[in-house]
Amino acid sequence: MKTIIEPFRIKMVEPIRMTTPEERDRLLRAAHFNPFLIPAEAVLIDLLTDSGTAAMSSEQWAGMLRGDESYAGAKSWFRFEAVVKELTGMPHVLPTHQGRASERILFELLGGRGKYVPNNTHFDTTRANVEHSGAVAVDLVIEAGKHPRERHPFKGNMDVDGLAALIAKVGAENVPLCMVTITNNSGGGQPVSLENLGAVRRVCDAHGIPLFLDAARFAENACLIKMREPGQRDRPVWQIVRDTFDLADGATISAKKDGLVNIGGVLLMRDDKLAERANNLLILTEGFVTYGGLAGRDLEAMAQGFREVLDEDYLHYRLRSIEYLGEGLLKAGVPIIEPPGGHAVYIDAGEFLPHIPPEQFPGQALLCALYRHAGIRAVEIGSVMFGRTDSATGQAIRPPMELVRLAIPRRVYTQSHIDYVIEALGELAETKDQIRGLCIVEAPPVLRHFTAKFAEV
Ligand SMILES: Cc1ncc(COP(=O)(O)O)c(C=O)c1O
Repeated sequence: MKTIIEPFRIKMVEPIRMTTPEERDRLLRAAHFNPFLIPAEAVLIDLLTDSGTAAMSSEQWAGMLRGDESYAGAKSWFRFEAVVKELTGMPHVLPTHQGRASERILFELLGGRGKYVPNNTHFDTTRANVEHSGAVAVDLVIEAGKHPRERHPFKGNMDVDGLAALIAKVGAENVPLCMVTITNNSGGGQPVSLENLGAVRRVCDAHGIPLFLDAARFAENACLIKMREPGQRDRPVWQIVRDTFDLADGATISAKKDGLVNIGGVLLMRDDKLAERANNLLILTEGFVTYGGLAGRDLEAMAQGFREVLDEDYLHYRLRSIEYLGEGLLKAGVPIIEPPGGHAVYIDAGEFLPHIPPEQFPGQALLCALYRHAGIRAVEIGSVMFGRTDSATGQAIRPPMELVRLAIPRRVYTQSHIDYVIEALGELAETKDQIRGLCIVEAPPVLRHFTAKFAEV
């Protein structure tokens, strides 16, 4: 059957408020052309992020009621710890309120001036946390991962030769860890193969460098491995997940993605001494080691979410709906990163709007047009998010691609919502020459995409 059915029924609904193009134009201007600053109530379809936006299941809500709110050693903690240990095999499980809290602890311990942290592509908060520690964040994705139209099953793979060259250049003693992001969010939600992780592991082993995963989308990555990597088709996803974690010395997880929850994170590690130091930092800023800034009910929801996400009917529906959106956009003449990855479709805004140069932010211009036209909110992943000025030369540093990400919240929207998105972008494709570029009026020094203000050029 060609029709993708959502493998769940809807028990509770949340109304969407309809808006007019005139109202949206007013709101967009009031938000200084930054959709982050638009009230969510005025958004028809919110594809800003797949992070923390999932619909929880009846079992997760039941778990919320069972939550044990004892300060230390709550039942909910032990349930959560057992699920995460079974899933990942990691001996040290630290709960955090979200992914970046795990990153902050990890890089406070391992980062620092003079250090280099390689990754396939650092996510924005990961890069910011590495740099905040004084270290240099280095992106080393394979060449195919930088070319939107090039079809490759694992465009998130790390450039293993590039990793070896970096280590040779800066010295293994200055590479405190290597990270691999699965799936590679900033590079198009593209998966990383087990073969590539194994090769990265061997390079790390040769130099005594620990390998950490940024594993926010571990289940989607594993399902894409099952679908695309030779020899994996007949293996259960949970086993591929386990193989993935077995290759690593630790991981940061934002549970707001494949944990199917609205808040929560995890920091995992094998090294006892490092875990002891991490626990001390956890207590300092997050909370005691058995709750880490979360309520007992949040731990329950995460424990259940980490189980549910391994349901292969769910994962196949999830990946097929992303693919369906990608196919629809390509048919409508909208260039995307091909093939679509696990959680989002990325529009190649640079190619879609060739009349807008990178310094006028084609991605930001497209997402403003999309909101104004159809009330759809998306996010820019391009020169707004990653562009900056080299402090030494004063020259602009630009990312390799100007993208707009349509991230699909888990279990929230139906196929007709997705059809609406395809139709809206198809209409925009017909009048795209009228879309105008933007300039920055005001921006903070780091993570500027969240709060920057723009004006139309
Ligand atoms: C790959 C990746 N790493 C880290 C994070 C940060 O997680 P959080 O938003 O929970 O702090 C995100 C969030 O979107 C992500 O996609």
